[in-house]
Amino acid sequence: MITTTGLTKVYRSRGREVTALDGVDLHVREGEVYGVVGRSGAGKSTLIRCVNLLERPSSGTVTVDGRDLTALTGRGPGILPGGSRAGAALRQARSHIGMVFQHFNLLSSRTVQDNVELPLEILGVSGRERSRKALELLDLVGLADKAKAYPAQLSGGQKQRVGIARALAGDPKVLLSDEATSALDPETTRSILQLLRDLNRQLGLTVLLITHEMDVIKSVCDSAALMKGGRIVESGTVSDILATPGSELADELFPVGGEASGPDRTVVDLTFHGEAATQPVISQLSRTYNIDISILGAAMDTVGGRQVGRMRIELPGRFEENVVPIGFLREHGLQVDVAGPEAAVELAKEGAK
Ligand SMILES: Nc1ncnc2c1ncn2[C@@H]1O[C@H](COP(=O)(O)OP(=O)(O)OP(=O)(O)O)[C@@H](O)[C@H]1O
Ligand SMILES: [Mg+2]
Repeated sequence: MITTTGLTKVYRSRGREVTALDGVDLHVREGEVYGVVGRSGAGKSTLIRCVNLLERPSSGTVTVDGRDLTALTGRGPGILPGGSRAGAALRQARSHIGMVFQHFNLLSSRTVQDNVELPLEILGVSGRERSRKALELLDLVGLADKAKAYPAQLSGGQKQRVGIARALAGDPKVLLSDEATSALDPETTRSILQLLRDLNRQLGLTVLLITHEMDVIKSVCDSAALMKGGRIVESGTVSDILATPGSELADELFPVGGEASGPDRTVVDLTFHGEAATQPVISQLSRTYNIDISILGAAMDTVGGRQVGRMRIELPGRFEENVVPIGFLREHGLQVDVAGPEAAVELAKEGAK
C-alpha cells in the first residue's frame, strides 16, 4: 500500500545541510498497522511527511496505493493535507491519505462538525453531503453528541477523535499518524489506539504510525521499523522481529535485563514462540551437561494473538566452553543469541591457538 524507494530528504538552512532521510526503503502492506520508532531526530516525522508529500523528498520515490506521488506536481503543502495550493492531481491523490497530528491541529473558531467538514469543503463537496458525511464520521469515532461543540470544550482524547474523523473525511485508504497519542494520558491513549485498531479492521484502513512508546507497537502494530540517523535499520513483522537474534528493537520491546555475574560466564538470549517448552529444555541442558544455569531475566507477552517470550540465561564458563550446550539449545528449537558474539568468537579463536 505504501512503498518508498531510496527516499532522501536534505534540509538546507543557513548554509548548513541536514540529511533527515538517507535512502529509506519502506514497505507497508495493505491493511496492516505499521509502527515507526526511533530516537528524537531520527527522521520519523520527515518520513511520514514525505509519504503524503507535505514535504517534497530530495530524491527517491513514494508510491501509495499504486500511484507514484513523487511524479505528481503540486506547489507545497497548502493549509491541510489535501490543501488548496497543491496541484489538482496531487490534491486528489492526497485526499486518499488521512493524517492525524500530535497536537490535533483543530481550528478553534469552528465547531467540531465544521472541523470535520473542512477537507470536504476543500474537495468541493456540497453542503448537504458534507454535513451527512461529517455526522456519520463523528458517530464512527463516538462523538455524535459533540457536533456543535467547539474544540476548547473537548478533552484531549475527544479532540483527537475529531482529528481522526477529519482525517477520514476523504475516505482514505491510508491513515498517517505522527505521535497521535503522545499528548494524552495512558488510559486515553489506549482508547485512541483501540479506535485506530477498530478502524483498521472495520474499514480495512492501512495505518502508518510514529510512536516513541514501545507498548503501542506491542499492542496495535502488525509490523514495525526502527529508524536511526535517517535510515531504517530494522524492520519486519513484530513477531519476526522478536525472533531475530541480536535485534535491538526486540530488546526495546521485551527488555529482559540481567548482566553477566562474572567474566567467566556466557550470557545467552533465548526467544521462543507459543507453547515452546523452555523450562524442560533448560533443565535437560542442566542435567545432560551437569551445569548450573541461572536465569537472569525473562519476559512474556502476546503479540498479534501469539505468545512470545524471551529469556536471558547465564552458563558457567566462557563462550568457547559452551559451544556444545548452545548447540543443544538450538537443536531443541530455541532461537539462541549469544551476547557479544563477535568478541566471544574472537576469544574462542584465541583460545584455540
Ligand atoms: N524544516 C526543517 N529544516 C531543517 N532541518 C529539519 C527540518 N525538519 C527536520 N529537520 C531535521 O531533520 C532531522 C529529522 O527530523 P524529524 O523531525 O524527522 O525527526 P523525528 O524522528 O520526528 O524526531 P522527534 O522524535 O523529535 O519528533 C533532525 O535533525 C531535524 O533537526
Ligand atoms: Mg517527529
